[in-house]
Amino acid sequence: MARLVAPAGSVVGIDMDSVKLGLARKAAKERGLTNVEFRRLPVQEWDEPGSYDVAYARFLLKHLSQPVALLRRMWTALRPGGLLIVEDADFDGLSSYPSNSGLRFFLRTYSRMIERRGGDHAAGRKLYSYFLEAGIPSPDVSLVGSIHYEGEEKALPLSTLEATTDSIVSEGIASRDQIAAATVSLEEFTKDSRTLIFGPRVFQLYSRK
Ligand SMILES: C[S@@+](CC[C@H](N)C(=O)[O-])C[C@H]1O[C@@H](n2cnc3c(N)ncnc32)[C@H](O)[C@@H]1O
Repeated sequence: MARLVAPAGSVVGIDMDSVKLGLARKAAKERGLTNVEFRRLPVQEWDEPGSYDVAYARFLLKHLSQPVALLRRMWTALRPGGLLIVEDADFDGLSSYPSNSGLRFFLRTYSRMIERRGGDHAAGRKLYSYFLEAGIPSPDVSLVGSIHYEGEEKALPLSTLEATTDSIVSEGIASRDQIAAATVSLEEFTKDSRTLIFGPRVFQLYSRK
């Protein structure tokens, strides 16, 4: 996005996680981008009426207990003619062929973790109704699926399960032994080039002000 709007335009990226922001800052530096600023902030505290031509959120709304409130602020943040773009996943679409117990375990525990923290693992399919509830007119809607037989994206469920092990245990959703057994199963499955993982359904919406 920073490249698209250069040299006259600039981009502000917001996340509350300093690790993610560190990675983003590094990526921007490696690409020689000077027109992007990153802010560490819970989006609940973000409010900048009439300040932007585009407001975009990806894979964020499913983590929020009040997604409609954020949509309203994103809409308010736009200047007339501005574009609101939101993408989010519906994890019920995550599956595999053949079926794998490790992947089913990941889906169950990850969804439960999102919900314990006030989010909704199926937020994607609800985005359209969120837009209407926020009073944002005529969103354009599309749906994207993905299929993986190798590579980094096929390994996303496995790396997410590994990265969230401590949180799953501390939330009391599963034991370390259960996670270890699921990880072994999912790792073997991910490495096997004959198996397929179908990514979560991704809903994409936009509206112009
Ligand atoms: C699945 S990641 C998506 C990251 C990035 N938007 C992307 O599309 O690659 C979800 C991100 O939402 C951030 N997040 C969750 N709740 C948040 C909140 N209340 N305020 C700001 N960031 C939040 C997390 O820190 C995490 O980086």
